[in-house]
Amino acid sequence: MNAGPEERWVEVEEYLTATLVGEDEALTAARDATAAAGLPHIEVAAPQGKLLMLLARLTGARKVLEIGTLGGYSTTWLARGLPDDGEVVTCEYEARHAEVARENLERAGVGAKVSIRVGAALDTLPQLEAEGAGPFDLVFIDADKENNANYVNWALKLTRSGSLIVVDNVVRGGSVLDADQAGAGGDNAEAAAIRGTRDALALLGSDDRLDATAVQTIGSKGWDGFAFAVVK
Ligand code: SAH
Ligand code: DHB
Ligand code: MG
Repeated sequence: MNAGPEERWVEVEEYLTATLVGEDEALTAARDATAAAGLPHIEVAAPQGKLLMLLARLTGARKVLEIGTLGGYSTTWLARGLPDDGEVVTCEYEARHAEVARENLERAGVGAKVSIRVGAALDTLPQLEAEGAGPFDLVFIDADKENNANYVNWALKLTRSGSLIVVDNVVRGGSVLDADQAGAGGDNAEAAAIRGTRDALALLGSDDRLDATAVQTIGSKGWDGFAFAVVK
């Protein structure tokens, strides 16, 4: 009773999760272990994770690139959307996060499908290119937001026609509109994040090689959104 709209968002998310999503024990364990290890509680919500799995399946993906592993929660959903010989390459800056993710991925039974590359993604991505690791069928960008446009540019180098690029957190409670803060005056981390996301969205909207949209989301992660772009 008297639940505010934000509480209702979370209740609806729980209802949808229970009704549709089938978040199993391995996934709840990954979420719990990530929190218990003191990592931030910023993994995608369960219905969003399921969306990532369905997108992987829908695109017939065999190779997925993820930027931003955290505890491997989204990684697990993505891996589950792949055939047995599919692979997720996931980039993570923090060695500790990668360690927690490795345990979670093994427990979820998808460890063999996932390679975690520890380091700054902007160092790892050129290595992947040099190794000929691509083309990736789906790229999920969910790391340091100030580099979002750089990550889209790398995604373009590492994909093929028909690949899907997904960018998380493109709305951030509406702060994506705060271009003033993001402009020359703003030099804090939040301003850099807004600038990075706005640059990424501008690129998705203007690059001839891409066809894009974005969808706003509400729920346990507040008001946020995903951008989706298909490589032409
Ligand atoms: N995709 C995860 C959440 C990722 S949170 C999920 O939904 O389950 C963002 C992660 O990006 C954090 O673990 C953070 O350490 C990592 N990160 C931050 N800067 C990075 C960088 N420069 N390169 C790679 N990873 C980075
Ligand atoms: C933050 C990062 C995320 O990737 C996310 O989905 C939510 C929040 C953050 O850094 O605050
Ligand atoms: Mg995110």
